[in-house]
Amino acid sequence: MAKPSFRTHHGMHDILPDESPKWLALETIVRETAKRFHFHEIRTPIMEDTALIARGVGELTDIVSKEMFAFNRGEDKYVLRPEGTASVSRAYIQHNLAQLGGVQRLFYIGPMFRAERPQKGRQRQFHQFGVEVLGSAEAVADTETIAFMIAVIQKIGITRYTLKLNSVGDIESRTAYKEALVNYFSPLKSKLSEISQQRLEQNPMRILDSKDEGDKVLVVNAPKILDYLNEDCTAHFEAVKTQLTQLGIDFEINPLLVRGLDYYSKTAFEISSPDLGAQDALGGGGRYDLLVEELGGKKTPAVGFACGIERLLIASEALGLNLVKDHRPDVIMISLGDEAQLWSLKAAQELRAIGLNVTMHYSVGSMKAQMKNANRENAKYCIIVGDNELAAKEFVLRDMDKSVEQKHNWSQILAQLSPLAKSL
Ligand code: HAM
Repeated sequence: MAKPSFRTHHGMHDILPDESPKWLALETIVRETAKRFHFHEIRTPIMEDTALIARGVGELTDIVSKEMFAFNRGEDKYVLRPEGTASVSRAYIQHNLAQLGGVQRLFYIGPMFRAERPQKGRQRQFHQFGVEVLGSAEAVADTETIAFMIAVIQKIGITRYTLKLNSVGDIESRTAYKEALVNYFSPLKSKLSEISQQRLEQNPMRILDSKDEGDKVLVVNAPKILDYLNEDCTAHFEAVKTQLTQLGIDFEINPLLVRGLDYYSKTAFEISSPDLGAQDALGGGGRYDLLVEELGGKKTPAVGFACGIERLLIASEALGLNLVKDHRPDVIMISLGDEAQLWSLKAAQELRAIGLNVTMHYSVGSMKAQMKNANRENAKYCIIVGDNELAAKEFVLRDMDKSVEQKHNWSQILAQLSPLAKSL
């Protein structure tokens, strides 16, 4: 076959018809979980003002400094959103969602864009589902947010995962901690990687996240954030741990977990899977009590997370899970002749109206070709109609699994098939 002239960009993928049922199944799990927790959907544009993302996610993060798909059009600066938290916070401020009263419990599903180097589980266009809870400073909001994430993962059937938990403190705790880090790393500066040497000046906590093997050795003995939390942050962290334990949610404390976005305060968490390879995070999140104010809104404590849908699918496939329950058509109509096809067209509509999933062969081909198609479509039944059947008003109903067929009149067929009916 000739090489196609046009292909998707590197790191961007089509989701083809044989894959989309599992996407739909996963999205349905997210929506049903949202219903259980009484969270509401928010849909924001996939393009935002570049300044929003720079301010929200942080100028010094990899996402903003290296990975944005950004362009200008006239006076306006656009960026394809790399994540959802800044957008949801912007929408919260722009539409004054606080005026609705109470806590806003929101979720979203959609594409995100980061110009990263593609590899397994890392694309340039990827998809997240995420949750943002705005307007509560309480630890229970953190715990419920984590419980939502675990509920989705368990409902998918993913059994191999680790929840890592940390607190990155508030500004006061972090100021003390950063000073301790600078004191620790400064005498070791020449041994740090080039990027970590820069981080030492700009954002020393990022060194903890370094992928450089040499840095990792030095990080082992670095001071730990949990020793620098003030009373408020400690009490909050203890409350989250107690509540997670009460819910039977296992976690591992990881004081090196700093996350790749700048807006976090207090709780930070990540869920990883051994089935993902180098990019092992299924999802992550945390509290971001300062972001809404940073973006020009009123002080609004908030917490949330996002999971990568591609990564959830990789993890579920590694476990051999089949998310797609039933994607077979109930019936395929097989028509031999033009008049029969017109009859089939109407009969298919009647069957759909009572709740069956029905497809039909569009060209009036040979019986053999149509049966081959019925097998490919994996239909449960086929209804075969030709001139004789039309004249006799008796049609062939073939059970494809049992390979048996019988002639019936239309009301008998309806009676036999109606138990397959389901609501949409
Ligand atoms: P994040 O850790 O940057 O957090 O992304 C969340 C998840 O998205 C990751 O754990 C991963 O599963 C998936 N992901 C990220 N980048 C890629 C990629 N290039 N390819 C495939 N999957 C990817 C956030 O985005 C925060 N907004 C989460 C949050 C919400 N925090 C508070 N609220």
